[in-house]
Amino acid sequence: MSYKTKVSRNGNIAKLQAGYLFPEIGRRKAAHMLKYPDAQVISLGIGDTTEPIPEVITSAMAKRALGLSTIEGYTGYGAEQGEKQLRAQLASTFYSNLGIEEDDIFVSDGAKSDISRLQVLFGSNVTMAVQDPSYPAYVDSSVIIGQTGEFQKDIEKFGNIEYMKCTPENDFFPDLSKVSRTDIIFFCSPNNPTGSAASREQLTKLVNFAKDNGSIIIYDSAYAMYVSGDTPKSIFEIPGAKEVAIETASFSKYAGFTGVRLGWTVVPKELKYSDGFPVAKDFNRIVCTGFNGASNIAQAGGLACLSPEGLQAMHEVVGFYKENTKIIVDTFTSLGFTVYGGIHAPYVWVHFPGRSSWDVFSEILEKTHVVTTPGSGFGPAGEGFVRVSAFGHRNNVLEACRRFKELYK
Ligand SMILES: Cc1ncc(COP(=O)(O)O)c(C=O)c1O
Repeated sequence: MSYKTKVSRNGNIAKLQAGYLFPEIGRRKAAHMLKYPDAQVISLGIGDTTEPIPEVITSAMAKRALGLSTIEGYTGYGAEQGEKQLRAQLASTFYSNLGIEEDDIFVSDGAKSDISRLQVLFGSNVTMAVQDPSYPAYVDSSVIIGQTGEFQKDIEKFGNIEYMKCTPENDFFPDLSKVSRTDIIFFCSPNNPTGSAASREQLTKLVNFAKDNGSIIIYDSAYAMYVSGDTPKSIFEIPGAKEVAIETASFSKYAGFTGVRLGWTVVPKELKYSDGFPVAKDFNRIVCTGFNGASNIAQAGGLACLSPEGLQAMHEVVGFYKENTKIIVDTFTSLGFTVYGGIHAPYVWVHFPGRSSWDVFSEILEKTHVVTTPGSGFGPAGEGFVRVSAFGHRNNVLEACRRFKELYK
């Protein structure tokens, strides 16, 4: 028998199921590679970026890194909320005319960490709603902080979470007349995994719903730069949103910063608790207590991203992935599948009516050596769908599509 401590396991973590979705896919991919050591496995699964970071951005990071070796260029701890210049540049680049100011913006090491920080902010006594399907971090972090009941195997849902069904039948926007009031509403647009982006009219309904119920929206805009046309890129484009919403965002999918780590969260000073206390003041406390600010090198990269050349370079990166998306959409459409998403997002949501997502995932992996993501991993309403990510080198995307055509011709 191995030695055991006397510490009991955190019961909330014990409620989580098989594990975070993406490590599970990683395990299946690894097992597949053991089984077929010679196969050319292509990953269009977890949604990690593949293209190099534009040099205008890396050179700014290199310069800052080398500067750290000089007396003049050295800096240690910075402001926990981020460097003033970066906060100001974020405000003017993404929120000009929306009334969001530099001090409403908290720079972070990425949107995922901020989602967990927001859970710590609100604590275990709030109730929460999520889109079903949705990015798994919202539900998992809610379980960990103790907001939920047990996992109910028959319905594949955790107790005490309001799952807002988003399917083709409702244009991937929840029927709010059927959604119960919760304190917190997680809403991601463009959505991971469905790739759908909510319209101005839909977001107006959401903001009004939150206002009527006195709820707070946590709006995840990690894919906002993939939006084209008049579809909103920020929840703050909706009148009144500053009183009911927080927005979290990231450089990960714009500049290939999934490894560099840089994001930001906007908590407007207009957002107040029931006793009138500003939410931003408490978030500031969370950030100062549990975080010492984003890496100064990453922040130099962020500032370079927001220069005119950096913005141009990010648009090119986003444009490249959007071309990949089109190739994937066209492939599945030509094979007779109904596909969703892929217009304002780097994800294609392919419908396999009547089939189990994990079965389709396994079939595709076994027969084409391509890793996708089973829709049911994002929530019960994702059953029958598979998410195909457009993050890949062009030749890999083309080769994966060639294999899909072979399998489903
Ligand atoms: C919807 C959504 N939010 C947040 C994240 C995490 O972003 P970051 O790399 O900034 O932590 C992802 C990453 O895939 C995502 O899809």
